[in-house]
Amino acid sequence: MIFPDGMQSKLPDVGTTIFTVMSRRAAEQGAVNVGQGFPDFPIDTRLAACVSDAVAAGFNQYAPMEGSVALRAAIAAKIKAAGGRQTDPETELTVTCGGTESIYSAIQAMVGAGDEAIVFDPAYDAYDPAVRLAGGRCIHIPLEAPHFRFDWDRVRATLSDRTRLIVINNPQNPSCTVASAADLDALAAITRDRPIAVIADEVYEHVQYDGRRHQSVMNHEELRSRSFAVYSFGKTLHITGWRVGYCVAPPQLTRELRKVHQFNAFSIAAPLQEAIALYLQRHPDAWREVAAFFSAKRDLLLARLANSGLVLPPAEGTYFQLADYSQLAACDDVEFTERLINEAGVAVIPLSPFYRAPPAGMRIVRLCVAKRDATLIEAADRISAYTAAIR
Ligand SMILES: Cc1ncc(COP(=O)(O)O)c(C=O)c1O
Repeated sequence: MIFPDGMQSKLPDVGTTIFTVMSRRAAEQGAVNVGQGFPDFPIDTRLAACVSDAVAAGFNQYAPMEGSVALRAAIAAKIKAAGGRQTDPETELTVTCGGTESIYSAIQAMVGAGDEAIVFDPAYDAYDPAVRLAGGRCIHIPLEAPHFRFDWDRVRATLSDRTRLIVINNPQNPSCTVASAADLDALAAITRDRPIAVIADEVYEHVQYDGRRHQSVMNHEELRSRSFAVYSFGKTLHITGWRVGYCVAPPQLTRELRKVHQFNAFSIAAPLQEAIALYLQRHPDAWREVAAFFSAKRDLLLARLANSGLVLPPAEGTYFQLADYSQLAACDDVEFTERLINEAGVAVIPLSPFYRAPPAGMRIVRLCVAKRDATLIEAADRISAYTAAIR
């Protein structure tokens, strides 16, 4: 890329995300898209009706900077109903442009020039560029397949006097693992008496399987006081395109987050916030169905791929499922993904782009289960036919 007059890119190595690339390739090839994480099924018609109600009721001008009063009240009620603690909507809750903007604003609020932030690879791709735009740098700690467990000793050894932030993602995309209570205790011990904030990306809080219970930093006595917990209605209500998420943080951190948010997004689409508030008032239990809903889809995909030769450790959480193809092909994951698009007509996501330094010989791809059953069946059958042909 040539810039005029010596101007320079601040993120020279950042290209289009792998999700966008694969969705574009899927469209070009007419492939079944189980790559990018978005539902291909319709939203609840009752939620759609709430949008018309909100527009008709006149919620069409700037919403309050920190989020609609009704929505913040509904979020506080939901947190309580889910077993969380009392959250003050005035001082601890901010509605943002998806979970992404919560993450971005929290990073800008906490990281300065020369500061270090610890992230765990495979990492969601929004963390590193935001830290760099803040003038900091990310220290990437790899989680190793197949279990992708935190190595807290390694984290401790990575700390420096410039460490200002640790980002955890629980449930974790794309490893599909969930953190334990012991993980949160270890994180608390590591950050104790240090000037380190925590961003807990908990956008998949309700998508955990096989009876697992979400371990939130917000319910951890010690971590709560230093944490920004990030959530997304995109994930919980199947509305990724509405771009409505929120951040829960103690008052002093919320104040800092809002300083960034008010000059970044300022406020979030008013009728969409009111619509979600109305929906949660009318159907306060709507989010409770999410785990069973996606669990059935994960199980459908696993059953349908049972004879494919792929190794499929059942996802613990998130609406993704990993597939290890090492028994079927020796190529790297980007190449295998290309083959699946071209030869099987299925788009998936390779795992290596989620690593700063991809582990040698890792042969794993990610499939999204947030799709219609028919989409999952078609994708699985095409993959199974392909793997049968190459075996
Ligand atoms: C781990 C993780 N964090 C954050 C986000 C962003 O959420 P939102 O779409 O609400 O911005 C995603 C979306 O895919 C995600 O997977």
